[in-house]
Amino acid sequence: MRRKVLIGFVIGALSVLPMALQAGSFAGKDTRSLKEAAGGRFLLGVATSPKVLANPVDSALVKRHFQILTPDNCMKPQAVQPSEGAWNFKAADSFADFARKNGLQVTGHCLVWAKDDRTSAWMMEENGAPVSRETMLKRIETHVTKVAKRYADVATMWDVVNEAVADGGGEQILRDSVYSRTTGMDFLVTAFKAARAADPDALLIYNDYGDHNPAKLAKIVTMLKELKRLGAPVDAFGMQGHFQIGEESIKGMRNTIAAMRELGLKVVVSELDIDVIPRNRWWTDGGKHREELAKINPYPDSLPSELQQRLATQYLALFKVFVENSDIIERVSFWNVHDEESWLNNFPWKRVNHPLFFDRQRQPKPAFDAVHKYLSAPENHVRPPSPTP
Ligand code: G3I
Repeated sequence: MRRKVLIGFVIGALSVLPMALQAGSFAGKDTRSLKEAAGGRFLLGVATSPKVLANPVDSALVKRHFQILTPDNCMKPQAVQPSEGAWNFKAADSFADFARKNGLQVTGHCLVWAKDDRTSAWMMEENGAPVSRETMLKRIETHVTKVAKRYADVATMWDVVNEAVADGGGEQILRDSVYSRTTGMDFLVTAFKAARAADPDALLIYNDYGDHNPAKLAKIVTMLKELKRLGAPVDAFGMQGHFQIGEESIKGMRNTIAAMRELGLKVVVSELDIDVIPRNRWWTDGGKHREELAKINPYPDSLPSELQQRLATQYLALFKVFVENSDIIERVSFWNVHDEESWLNNFPWKRVNHPLFFDRQRQPKPAFDAVHKYLSAPENHVRPPSPTP
């Protein structure tokens, strides 16, 4: 893991000089770079698609600010193996090639997505009957091995299993899915072991959302402990970090980091963004607010400056915690490059969202300014002796 990270880091650093020289060609005279400001405390990353990388303005932005790329959709199980043994690596290959050509690393995403609605029908069946435990584990091993080996040269990290833990309170640790129904926790063990065998020096991540809710964090911790006991080689927890404006998330985040510290795991912030049009009510009261919410689109043209400032303040508070804990935080990745690309323009209803550091004109927002300034300040490069939970 370390060797590949180091090589990627050196190549990335060498690429900074010409980029800085070219910077004026696509974003005025602004030569700031987020990854330079982070200065090795953690890797700066972003999730995106081959389509965005094919756009010269967007790809310049990516190369200037980020060291590690996550494919947002094209490496997912349903994309690369739409039916059993019928592999489709076209998009994932082009994504990996972009990283190789530009000296960037990749976080492979994801080898298993433990949700039925993200799983193809073929994976759930066997000769017209529900899939058996043996076949399911074999299929997982085959998929993980094939994909992880193919990108082992460029992937330094893998989201091995995504979103396996049940939401909310209650006794049930694992989400109900074909994976947990047929194998209990064994699908996770098989996936992590196969990933380690296929790409021995990559950081292997269990990735999930909602860990800022104490009940869900407790379940995630229980599962990770059990995986350790069962010999699954989990190296890190992926804290997705899909936040909402005004949300109190710092305490929960500190709790997660402290819990992972205790388990001896690294942390990656894997899918960072802040929704400026809060979405929680979509799921409350049996969905009865949905019709009303679907009409809400308050910032169709641009984000008012008061909101820009709140976004900046909230991002800054998050990055302060990341810096404080940078001894165990390996990476901070945004989920998408600029506001136009964000999944939050479509989920859970269509609206014009503004959750990221770059606006629709690809210009840095006040949130970028605040975090860049904070990361660049020499006094913030000194880590406090012991991060407090
Ligand atoms: O590409 C088609 C387009 O041709 C079609 O017209 C359109 C109609 O709906 O759909 C497009 O595909 C969509 C795709 O995103 C690309 O935009 C899919 O419907 C849509 O389901 C898909 O959503 C992705 C989602 O995962 C499900 O795979 C989001 O982009 C992606 O950001 C999101 O990523 C997840 C992580 O993997 C796991 N953590 C949460 C995160 C956000 O939900």
